[in-house]
Amino acid sequence: LSSVYGNNIKVTIFGQSHSAAVGLVIDGLPAGEKVNTEALQAFLDRRAPGRNDYSSARSERDEPEFLSGLINGATCGAPICVVLRNQDARRQDYDDLAGIPRPGHADYTAYIKHHGHNDASGGGHLSGRLTAPLCLAGGICLQLLERKGIDIAAHISELGGVADIPFDPVGICGEQLRALRLAGFPVLSADSGVKMVDEIGAVRGEGDSIGGIIECAAAGIPAGLGDPMFDGVENCIARIVFAIPGVRAIEFGAGFAAAGQRGSANNDTFYMDDDKVRTRTNNHGGVLGGITSGMPLIFRAAIKPTPSIARRQDSVRLIDMFEPAHKTGGEDIKLVINGRHDPCIVPRAVPCIEAAAAIAILDMMKP
Ligand SMILES: Cc1cc2nc3c(=O)[nH]c(=O)nc-3n(C[C@H](O)[C@H](O)[C@H](O)COP(=O)(O)O)c2cc1C
Repeated sequence: LSSVYGNNIKVTIFGQSHSAAVGLVIDGLPAGEKVNTEALQAFLDRRAPGRNDYSSARSERDEPEFLSGLINGATCGAPICVVLRNQDARRQDYDDLAGIPRPGHADYTAYIKHHGHNDASGGGHLSGRLTAPLCLAGGICLQLLERKGIDIAAHISELGGVADIPFDPVGICGEQLRALRLAGFPVLSADSGVKMVDEIGAVRGEGDSIGGIIECAAAGIPAGLGDPMFDGVENCIARIVFAIPGVRAIEFGAGFAAAGQRGSANNDTFYMDDDKVRTRTNNHGGVLGGITSGMPLIFRAAIKPTPSIARRQDSVRLIDMFEPAHKTGGEDIKLVINGRHDPCIVPRAVPCIEAAAAIAILDMMKP
């Protein structure tokens, strides 16, 4: 099933960019777990649009409305159902785009898949808006994980040719990760952050957009999580991270760079740290054979530049392809996209990556 994730907990995400609401159902969480709604709101606010001058001007309060699953603020064992009303939906912004697929968006592929019945307004179910319920689910999972001593946070490791300081792959700890989650702009070096914001401003001025790389770490994960072959840690994390629109690639530990290393450099040798087995380096990113080693889990995701740009682009006007009389398809046209768009989605994608990692890790822990 699509839009449903998890082997042990089940997260179902529903809604469209311009429908009445987006939301989720989570099944399988243990009963008696408190949900701190203030912390949850703070987490959602990091993803929400309209909070700073480099994100979309769409203004959504993103206040969760719990319909079921909580009694006196704690899980009661029934499925949790939460909605986030779409308060600033503007379906009419997309009227001029009817039948015209926007380059870089899923409009054309969704049109083909759903035989022209897809909700094309702002990408419908395939919109970045659907990361709001993803963050809601992830924000709840993060709270449960924190109680088990597991912390997760991400930062922008590269944007517009500006690099941030990487995580210390052996030494990163929960305290550092919790502090990072409070940062206004999610970087480890404030200087790099200033340069990145300047880059975003520059591309916006040119009517263009920019992508970047997000690095995510989880500390406190016990050794032994993950199942063989198809349910390894990398498989489970990649599956949910690719649900975030705009993600183009993922790498674990040394990732692609490992291909250029010798075995003697890439192997992470073991040693005893009191009674704990650790590795001196962490090229494996905390995962060997799809199973956690107990070292910090580290992965990076590449995010593409925002597809909606303020420039004239080539596209086609589709002439009802699914009418037998019109099998030929359409005509070439020039397209200008109006509406409200981020020149760079990378800062807003950071909590989405944390949320995805939290859901995957909690699911693997079989709570
Ligand atoms: C938090 C978030 C916000 C996004 N906002 C926009 C946006 O304002 N404009 C836009 O063109 N794309 C935006 N996107 C990206 C598109 O939704 C995405 O590129 C598109 O649906 C195609 O999916 P794909 O890139 O995974 O193939 C956003 C993505 C995320 C994660």
